[in-house]
Amino acid sequence: MSEKNITPFSRVGVIGLGYVGLPLSVLAARRGYRVLGIEQNRAKIDSLNRGESYVSGVTGRDLQVLSEKGMLAATESYEELDTCDVIVVCVPTPLNAEGLPDYQCLKAAAQEIAARLRKGQLVIVESTVAPGTTASLFLPLLEARAMLAGYDFFLAYSPERIDPGNREYGLENIPKLVAGFTPTCRRAARSFYKSIGLATVPVRTMETAEMAKLLENTFRDINIALVNEMARICRHNGIDIWEVVEAAATKPFGFQAFYPGPGVGGHCVPVDSIYYTSWARGSGRPAELAEKARLVNAAMPLYAVDVIREALAAEGRHLSGSRILVLGVTYKKDIEDTRESSALKIIELLQEKGSIVSFYDPMTEQVNLNGKTLDSVALSRSTFSAQDCVVLAVHHSAFDLAWIYTNSPLIVDLANAFNGFPAGKIKRL
Ligand SMILES: NC(=O)c1ccc[n+]([C@@H]2O[C@H](COP(=O)([O-])OP(=O)(O)OC[C@H]3O[C@@H](n4cnc5c(N)ncnc54)[C@H](O)[C@@H]3O)[C@@H](O)[C@H]2O)c1
Repeated sequence: MSEKNITPFSRVGVIGLGYVGLPLSVLAARRGYRVLGIEQNRAKIDSLNRGESYVSGVTGRDLQVLSEKGMLAATESYEELDTCDVIVVCVPTPLNAEGLPDYQCLKAAAQEIAARLRKGQLVIVESTVAPGTTASLFLPLLEARAMLAGYDFFLAYSPERIDPGNREYGLENIPKLVAGFTPTCRRAARSFYKSIGLATVPVRTMETAEMAKLLENTFRDINIALVNEMARICRHNGIDIWEVVEAAATKPFGFQAFYPGPGVGGHCVPVDSIYYTSWARGSGRPAELAEKARLVNAAMPLYAVDVIREALAAEGRHLSGSRILVLGVTYKKDIEDTRESSALKIIELLQEKGSIVSFYDPMTEQVNLNGKTLDSVALSRSTFSAQDCVVLAVHHSAFDLAWIYTNSPLIVDLANAFNGFPAGKIKRL
């Protein structure tokens, strides 16, 4: 397909209106595109149509204004996809029941697009995938109806790199890596991102861009594992890991601080590193370091329970029968997302040990645990003082630490939030 086939885009279809697809839809609509959001979750469409946002960083006001102007519409139906010049795929790529990459959503999206694909359309995959997936799995489904990528339509891969809750870097100031099936496909995708105000970094092949995204997140998993393992060793030897990291971080070069914690949660880091390790193993070259790091991080909730057990034992109590309040259940601070949350794993483990567990989280009122819903307790003196132990798992900015300190009988601090408070009733990771 030649350069002259890249016509100005006017209508964008975004498939999957979640943490990635919704902010992108809003940005494109603000920059003058008419956006058709396709989402299979009816509740999200209803919420969007009521002007209520379910993703932090996108306001209800944004949704109301853009839909009133006719710039943003959400639907379950793929029927109008052929009216879009650009189609951006932002569907989930989670793990299946066996803990392995699950491409069902990506395949379903590809089949729906293929059924309506027309000449000149630009299709961009933003979902995180293992190297080679866009070309070997997504593309054959798109070409099922004798349309050829690079000839009849453009195909590109551009991994999303947002970090929800990050106040410094968001969709608008993180450069987009962009690779195309052909150089012209890449140019088409870059021109789309440029038109919505995003800086782009050209990458030579789609496989390289897919791998780069996995490198970014596996880098985090491995470095967190390093410091988590060191935290356990330091604790065993009476050394304060938090002071160790602070000291090392004064080196002006060659070091980046990572902090220990009760595990690595979220939809990205723990999942993406498995996309990498399973792909590497399948290729005949296991990624031994990354596999080991995953095991270290996955074991941290159990280790945190051990720290809680020790803290209770020092007060003559057992996990079984103790009342434990967990503060913060999202996968990281200041966001509402609980996917793959380590705090929820800790709650499950404590329940298995017979503890009476409740939680408080200013970011989420309810969680689902093994099919049962659990409501956040109210913030009251009597609730806190009735506990045998209060576990701070996630340090949300909204927590009033002095109030928590005063009203809790015993605190297990998994996030070093109480640094500087009198140590007596605080046990740390
Ligand atoms: N959340 C993040 O911070 C983040 C950051 C970078 C990359 N990613 C990657 O981006 C992708 C999307 O992640 P997310 O967090 O936005 O997921 P999400 O679960 O928040 O949103 C995806 C949405 O797609 C919908 N969906 C699934 N299959 C569909 C289909 N066939 N048709 C229409 N809608 C469909 C789901 O109902 C869901 O609402 C994943 O590959 C993820 O790894 C996520």
